[in-house]
Amino acid sequence: MLRTRTPHAIHPDHHRLRARVPEKMPVALNVNGVETRLKVAPWTTLLDALRDHLDLTGTKKGCDHGQCGACTVLLDGRRINACLTLAVMHDGQPVTTIEGLADGETLHPLQAAFVAHDGFQCGYCTAGQICSAAGMLHESHMGMPSYVTENLALARPELTNAEIRERMSGNICRCAAYPNIVAAIRQAAGGPA
Ligand code: FES
Ligand code: FES
Repeated sequence: MLRTRTPHAIHPDHHRLRARVPEKMPVALNVNGVETRLKVAPWTTLLDALRDHLDLTGTKKGCDHGQCGACTVLLDGRRINACLTLAVMHDGQPVTTIEGLADGETLHPLQAAFVAHDGFQCGYCTAGQICSAAGMLHESHMGMPSYVTENLALARPELTNAEIRERMSGNICRCAAYPNIVAAIRQAAGGPA
């Protein structure tokens, strides 16, 4: 029997409700230490705000569904998938992207370690891997005194390869550079590379 789809009935208040949704909303973000004010559609993801409104294209869009980790940034020091959250939800919060990790011309220890260990091939996942690793090392310090957390070289050397892999499992590398990524993270964490 041939079936035809029944069109969804339009809610009687559809047009009135739709008129209430603001076209653009203001949001103030501190991105890589710079105060930034934007007006974005309420449904704009943090990822799209960074890439399309602020031209910070180091953060990559892979799946756009929270599955690959390519869009990982640090929100108040904690790693987050920027494709899964709306920019307007983070008014006033500090965001760090891959562009904000280096100190001028000096690479962040994780960036230097990824270069030293060839922790990438095509590089598409790399910004997410590095931001995620920075967040992961921060997580593994939680509860430790700041004189420890401020110095990555004093990080927990007891993190095993298996632990690093498990904690980084939200970041997919389609080039399968995993052994080099793990070696880079171990070096940045102060353990044997
Ligand atoms: S693009 Fe966000 S998790 Fe894949
Ligand atoms: S280096 Fe190509 S996806 Fe990871």
